[in-house]
Amino acid sequence: MNAGLKPGQEHFRFFPLHKKDTNKTIHTVDTILKIAVIGLGRIGQIHLAALKTFKNIKITAVSDISPELAKWTAAEYQIPHFYTNYQDIFQQKDIDAVWICSPTSYHLAQVKEALDSNKYIFCEKPLDKDSNNIQSLIDIYPDLNHRLMVGFNRRFDPDFAAVKASLKKIGKPTIIKITSRDPFPPTAEYTRASGGIYNDMSIHDLDMARFISESEAEQVIAVGSKNYTDDTDTTLITIKFKNGIICNIDNSRKASYGYDQRLEILGDKGMISVENKKINHLTFYSENSLESSVLEPFFLERYKDSYIEEIKAFITSIQEKKEFPSTGEDALKASILADACEKSLEQKKIIFL
Ligand SMILES: NC(=O)c1ccc[n+]([C@@H]2O[C@H](COP(=O)([O-])OP(=O)(O)OC[C@H]3O[C@@H](n4cnc5c(N)ncnc54)[C@H](O)[C@@H]3O)[C@@H](O)[C@H]2O)c1
Repeated sequence: MNAGLKPGQEHFRFFPLHKKDTNKTIHTVDTILKIAVIGLGRIGQIHLAALKTFKNIKITAVSDISPELAKWTAAEYQIPHFYTNYQDIFQQKDIDAVWICSPTSYHLAQVKEALDSNKYIFCEKPLDKDSNNIQSLIDIYPDLNHRLMVGFNRRFDPDFAAVKASLKKIGKPTIIKITSRDPFPPTAEYTRASGGIYNDMSIHDLDMARFISESEAEQVIAVGSKNYTDDTDTTLITIKFKNGIICNIDNSRKASYGYDQRLEILGDKGMISVENKKINHLTFYSENSLESSVLEPFFLERYKDSYIEEIKAFITSIQEKKEFPSTGEDALKASILADACEKSLEQKKIIFL
């Protein structure tokens, strides 16, 4: 197929939507949840494939403004209903939860409608481009943390989660270094709708910095440049947290050698690092060189496990009636940091929070 794929999504032709995985169910949950997915582009297809591996999750409806894509997806995953108007999903009373995977500019409106239709919500990052809008949502829905989970999937990556769990081993953390570079820039259309590099891309790393430091920022400074697109596509961010930890984030919309994702934490008793994931772990030795495999191509492959783990966390929170592990509050705090980066870049100065 792939008729519904748009420019920028071509790489799915080579990595066809976890097709092998979708045919075998590998996870079970106690609760039967009926789910609908809104937005069937890159991340929508990844979530669908991941959701399909859960035995007790029934994907009941999908929606995309592209009729071909909606129809193809429903047929591919044997989903009973497909719509071009996402609001039709909210008319279906039997749907328990919605997965919002549409472009960023639609998130907030769709989240509000889903809340008013009494659904649980998983919404992709960022929740909105404007932190004031996120604050208003939090003010209107006081029980939001029990109803909305935001897709900061890297928290659920098994390696990053293990780092968080073993922080004590390195004593008091002092420096966090995060490298996150995409293999190629997104389309101009995607970039325009995304809210820019800080809200769209760095937001994952800003959340990771909060997650690992377990503190809030007091100073932010960002520098950036435009090397590949009309928008800032290369940036270095430095954050000083209230607990003294200093974090450096290195983002590029392009890394010619693949998807570069590294994390390093220095503590007063040692260091933990997560290195890049390669396609395989072979090394070829010769007289003149050592050769090993290239890196995982992109987020679909590198963070495959995290998308499964975040679904498990979503379901566990519902079953145990507890707050979701990445909430609207987390989205707000990451968004405030993204705003501070923008401001620092524009005004060429340190922003104090
Ligand atoms: N967590 C992650 O790893 C991750 C990765 C990629 C993207 N994202 C986020 O997911 C969101 C979508 O990104 P993408 O890369 O999948 O974009 P995309 O452009 O590939 O897909 C978006 C899809 O939504 C559809 N759409 C547009 N308006 C819609 C509407 N009103 N209702 C329903 N569908 C609509 C489009 O036709 C398209 O198929 C963005 O907010 C992005 O930040 C998260």
